[in-house]
Amino acid sequence: MPQENLDISPDHLPARLWQELTRAPHDRHHDWRTPILATQGIDGSGPQARTVVLRHADASLWTLRVYTDARSAKCSELLAQPLAQLTFWSKRLNWQLRVSALATVDFEGEQVNAAWERVGQSRAAADYLSVLPPGNPQSSGEPATEHSGNSPHGHHLAILNFKVCSMDWLALSKDGHRRARLTPAGMLQWLVP
Ligand SMILES: Cc1cc2nc3c(=O)[nH]c(=O)nc-3n(C[C@H](O)[C@H](O)[C@H](O)COP(=O)(O)O)c2cc1C
Repeated sequence: MPQENLDISPDHLPARLWQELTRAPHDRHHDWRTPILATQGIDGSGPQARTVVLRHADASLWTLRVYTDARSAKCSELLAQPLAQLTFWSKRLNWQLRVSALATVDFEGEQVNAAWERVGQSRAAADYLSVLPPGNPQSSGEPATEHSGNSPHGHHLAILNFKVCSMDWLALSKDGHRRARLTPAGMLQWLVP
């Protein structure tokens, strides 16, 4: 158990959390690189949760960024209901972080072009070039090999931007768990874990 869980002061907690969030996109082994994104399903399909890769975190703006296929269900869900949650768990830190955020979706523009310039050169490019949209039925379970540029941009990469509204931090420890709610305005409220 990291001793830090007991020593960390309220003044340092936000900066300490953002230190981990900003590290995660650049560290393949960081548990916080792959949070669970929860959205509200459309047409009564209930909550929808899935793993995503955290691509960018901005500690001064309290924003997070994720890439996705513009045709995926999560895009339509976030357009219909922008309030979402990203849940992070780190075994190393024994910390869970539940981030409530308002999402916007960028389908085009400078950020999307810059992201595609990087992703388009990588093996992940295929994730944004499928002929059929994600979740579409297909005739077999074989990985799709056909790729298309049937989009105005030649790819389907979109950016999910999350403006953090609040964070719920839970630190597990054999000496007693700790939990706090934090907001971008500087509020910190200790909670019963
Ligand atoms: C480790 C891991 C990382 C993933 N990263 C992403 C990602 O960054 N963006 C994304 O759209 N889907 C990602 N996925 C796939 C999603 O979990 C999901 O299956 C897919 O996006 C379809 O979700 P939707 O139909 O609910 O929109 C990832 C899956 C795994 C297992």
